[in-house]
Amino acid sequence: MIDAVLKQIDANREASVAGLKELLKIPSVSTKPEHKDDLRRCAAWIADKLNAMGLKAQVKATGGHPAVVAKNEHKAGRPTILFYGHYDVQPPEPMDKWLTPPFEPTIRDGAIYARGAVDDKGQVWAHLQAIAAWQNNGGLPVNLTLLIEGEEEIGSDNLERFVRDNRDFLKADVALISDTNQYARGLPAITYGLRGLVYNEVFITGADHDTHSGLYGGAIPNPANILCTLLGSLHDADQKVTVPGFYDDVIPLSQAEREAWAKLPFDEAQFLHELKLGGPMGEKGYTAIERSWARPTCDINGLTSGYQGHGAKTIIPSTASAKVSMRLVPNQDPVKIVESFERMLRERCPKGVKIEFARHGLSAPVLVSREGKAMQLATEAVHDGFGKTPTLIRSGGSIPVVGLIKSTLGIDTLLVGFGLPDDRVHSPNEKFDLDALHAGTRTAAALYGKLLHMKS
Ligand code: BES
Ligand code: MN
Ligand code: MN
Repeated sequence: MIDAVLKQIDANREASVAGLKELLKIPSVSTKPEHKDDLRRCAAWIADKLNAMGLKAQVKATGGHPAVVAKNEHKAGRPTILFYGHYDVQPPEPMDKWLTPPFEPTIRDGAIYARGAVDDKGQVWAHLQAIAAWQNNGGLPVNLTLLIEGEEEIGSDNLERFVRDNRDFLKADVALISDTNQYARGLPAITYGLRGLVYNEVFITGADHDTHSGLYGGAIPNPANILCTLLGSLHDADQKVTVPGFYDDVIPLSQAEREAWAKLPFDEAQFLHELKLGGPMGEKGYTAIERSWARPTCDINGLTSGYQGHGAKTIIPSTASAKVSMRLVPNQDPVKIVESFERMLRERCPKGVKIEFARHGLSAPVLVSREGKAMQLATEAVHDGFGKTPTLIRSGGSIPVVGLIKSTLGIDTLLVGFGLPDDRVHSPNEKFDLDALHAGTRTAAALYGKLLHMKS
């Protein structure tokens, strides 16, 4: 059967791009309230496609943007796979940096360019095409449940309740996600570790209005100076994070991992050159790969205070704020970390000003098992799809649902992603390589064929 399925996918290669274009035209930017109806429309579009393939799909309320859930006809004795993806996308800004508009998908140099092309609509599309091909060739060989949500890019805050409330519906033997990268072009990968995330916003308020910096400067607290002092104290000279207890629960890198990663092709000079950087920076004692895959970080993601217009304006700003996120690694606890972070800044903040915090979502770090039948079958499926055995990697990114699936459903997730490192996820000119789309569609089809045997 798989031969007929792959044959259909190969024959359908060109035609499949038209459907993806339709999906990419919908501006499903989850963070912006004005796109609420676009998210609803996007969910309905996906549900319609699944229903047309003979699955039973529904658009479900979550408290936030809706989720699409679907099942094929589940038959006793077959393993159940839970596929997860997200249809929401990051905001496209800055608009003037796009060579073609973000929601007018365009083919250029063998890739499709649009916001969401690879993260995650293109990768979801690979699975939808694979499912359609199986349905046209006698039906999917496994019990499949799909969960495609609309709030991943804003932290999946409403998903925890949704998964808990629908635990029986979502019950499965293994979960499957395509929302990660290959290691490099020609080096497909399976990801076994993701970092977690806590995202915090810090607000300092001083005088109740901006004041003349000549008349008041030196005599009153300056929220911008104070914020800079606080943020400047988050790292020491070795680029270690100074939040108390930050490293307490970190699982040290194993020697085996360090040796394996040192053998991966990685040219640090080239990596820096591509970003037009003059040199590296990071935690002392670790390589660039180790720093991004297996070490926790603390980074300012946004910083605002005072006069931002042209030229000079002499004021002491009334307020200052920063968006600060921390990437976490196993076994750091996001709640413990965010509490320690807030406590430290509160204690160090001078009493003359007010300090306040907002929390924008938590995501747990994860490591999934590299052993076991499902991982072995996934490795074979990638080989069938890409013609090459995948490398096992970790990634510095985060996908909140993976920890949630482990804690509420008790199962591991196979992270089989098709992106390339230069796809510019979250940046202007995001793309998805058309060869990767095709090989990914083949891999998805092979996965459904192979995972049938996961219990034998
Ligand atoms: N798909 C990405 C994460 C990713 C990309 C993992 C490439 C591995 C390789 C996901 O959509 C994402 O951007 N996640 C956010 C999570 C956050 C908003 C909670 C992230 O990592 O910043
Ligand atoms: Mn994603
Ligand atoms: Mn993303």
